[in-house]
Amino acid sequence: MPRYGSARGPDADRRRNCLNYRKPIGSLANTVSHLIAVHPDRQGQGRGTALLRHVERVLAARGQRVLLVETSALPAFERTRAFYRQSGYGEEARIRDFYQAGEDKIVFRKALRRDAT
Ligand SMILES: CC(C)(COP(=O)(O)OP(=O)(O)OC[C@H]1O[C@@H](n2cnc3c(N)ncnc32)[C@H](O)[C@@H]1OP(=O)(O)O)[C@@H](O)C(=O)NCCC(=O)NCCS
Repeated sequence: MPRYGSARGPDADRRRNCLNYRKPIGSLANTVSHLIAVHPDRQGQGRGTALLRHVERVLAARGQRVLLVETSALPAFERTRAFYRQSGYGEEARIRDFYQAGEDKIVFRKALRRDAT
């Protein structure tokens, strides 16, 4: 199992969307996603959802139990947080002032397999 991975969506040749993730040190069956991005011209058309679902399936097939995703708590990221909620992620933690003073990190969590609650 590589510690780092990435997936690209249907417009990969033009680098219009991507998702990067890694297995955290010391964790056997969990994965953290740090970045998902769809080109601004293509947002809101289902690409982000399809990309996230693909990565979830790949990770579950590799025995991964939990996927964590990290994003900013700033109001500018509300649509991003809505995207994760719609995709079945629940807010698990908040790290205050993580990115900079006044900008918290929100960690969302989704169970990938039935043996994870
Ligand atoms: C967040 C992001 C990956 C979602 O991908 P997407 O292809 O736009 O999302 P989908 O079309 O699959 O899903 C749409 C849902 O995502 C949410 N959403 C988030 N950002 C959106 C955007 N810019 N445009 C449209 N919907 C957006 C909405 O809740 C939307 O649901 P709705 O149509 O019912 O309103 C993409 O909008 C993006 O790259 N945003 C900028 C970068 C970013 O914030 N990345 C996350 C950093 S952790």
